[in-house]
Amino acid sequence: MRYIKLQHRVVHARYDEPTGKWHLRIRRPPPPNVTLESPPNEGEAYEEFEDTADLLFTGVGSLSRWKWPEIDGLKDFEGKLFHTADFEVGDGDKAWQEAIHDWKDKRVGVIGVGSSAIQIVPALQSRVKKIVNFVRGKTWISTPFSGAKMAELMQRDPEAENCTGYTDVFSEEDKERLKDTEYYKQFRHELESDLNSVHPSTLKDSDAQRAGRAAFHAHMKKKLAKKPWIADFLIPEFGVACRRLTAGPGYLEALCADNVDFQPTHIKGITNKGIELVDGTHEDLDIIICATGYDYSFQLDFPMVGRNGVTIQEKWSPHPSTYLAVCTDGFPNWFMSLGPNSSLGSGSLLVLIERQVEYAVAVAKKIQRERLKSIEVTKEAVADFDEYLESYFPKTVYSEKCRSWYKMGKEQGRVVALWPGSCLHAVRAIEQPRWEDFRYELPEGVKNRMHWLGDGQTYNEKTMTGDRAWYLNDDEVDIPTGAYTTLRLSVLIS
Ligand SMILES: NC(=O)c1ccc[n+]([C@@H]2O[C@H](COP(=O)([O-])OP(=O)(O)OC[C@H]3O[C@@H](n4cnc5c(N)ncnc54)[C@H](OP(=O)(O)O)[C@@H]3O)[C@@H](O)[C@H]2O)c1
Repeated sequence: MRYIKLQHRVVHARYDEPTGKWHLRIRRPPPPNVTLESPPNEGEAYEEFEDTADLLFTGVGSLSRWKWPEIDGLKDFEGKLFHTADFEVGDGDKAWQEAIHDWKDKRVGVIGVGSSAIQIVPALQSRVKKIVNFVRGKTWISTPFSGAKMAELMQRDPEAENCTGYTDVFSEEDKERLKDTEYYKQFRHELESDLNSVHPSTLKDSDAQRAGRAAFHAHMKKKLAKKPWIADFLIPEFGVACRRLTAGPGYLEALCADNVDFQPTHIKGITNKGIELVDGTHEDLDIIICATGYDYSFQLDFPMVGRNGVTIQEKWSPHPSTYLAVCTDGFPNWFMSLGPNSSLGSGSLLVLIERQVEYAVAVAKKIQRERLKSIEVTKEAVADFDEYLESYFPKTVYSEKCRSWYKMGKEQGRVVALWPGSCLHAVRAIEQPRWEDFRYELPEGVKNRMHWLGDGQTYNEKTMTGDRAWYLNDDEVDIPTGAYTTLRLSVLIS
């Protein structure tokens, strides 16, 4: 914790060319208020101070800023207005539980059909008098991700009605079994491996895409049997995963419930009493929940000034460009995770985030070991990655016509959110930095590139501290004898 500063907000960042350091302006609440229990009130004085860093790493997330939808009259509504991501009302889940405890007699409008709406509609359906789900676009609802594999691992019938493949079906007996670390490891391994097997389905006209379409079409039709007309409005023409795919257990069932109306007519505006549609009809509502998404611009929300006074906001207009989604030219000593083109259409995002952090750690070690002033990717390398992006995405379902945050909330255009390939492809691509794609500066006045060799001794010898035979430690020996033998044999055989 001594390295972590909570409630500190970076409000400005500037790369200082003479020193090669980042100058950060940071805002924090006045000291007496710095507790999690009593955050400062809106408008209360904040303290600002400057700090500097040799390397700047941003891990600010890609969907971290929610925004209200652009709908006329939004603020005229006299009932309760929520956004699904508005945690300012308290601490997330608890706040929602408190908010909905007396909604039994309420008419609730839910706007949207993204992952948030798909989860909130079934969660609220039995707790309110009526839900109207206002749905503008179309979306695929899939069967649970890795559901078949999960069913196999849990020894369940995948066709069974209650086999959602999700954690809510873990029995006490299952949980006991998962306490066995070997069994758990194997379980994780198989699930993860299954998740990493679906990438071909994201390629246009692939067999896997066709199979997914057929399966999810049948799945949606079956679940909507009670209100079959909804399928005509909901099942898309665009490919599966063009917009973020959601399994949404219970969503289609909820749409079929008697107290839920699916409303595909577009919204004209919000009135003081509810929502008016473009056909002139009006839905009277007590509560409106906007499940309408986030700021999808992929910009940082503070000015960040790189070389020659150019801000990242300027450089990334009309869209961002990066090198392997970890850095960009003109902004030396800056690396990131979950920036543009680093989300995944399939596979596990956590694995990639870990590799992006490791990439930055490798850079930090290089800067430190070689006493560099700066490391900056070349603009040619950024342009080459850009060319790769442009040639990759047209072959995928992501470039089809569908509104998606992958394309900055637009129906068509550049894919800004996703890595151009699979999760495993991304991991392999960045696990070994290509140092030749960077240019380097030595500190002011230093001419000899070997200046970091110092006086011929390592720190441990000079100070007589630390381990001076570290190369014999287990974690330094990377090929155990057995593996070496196998490796040699396989080389001989091949
Ligand atoms: N892991 C999870 O459990 C989870 C849960 C929630 C979200 N997420 C992540 O967050 C992402 C965003 O999800 P989200 O559902 O919050 O946002 P979203 O996918 O952007 O969906 C927003 C929905 O609101 C609709 N909308 C926006 N403005 C509107 C307007 N003015 N009038 C009518 N409808 C409007 C959109 O219409 P269109 O259909 O026309 O676009 C869309 O259906 C997801 O894709 C996912 O990556 C993850």
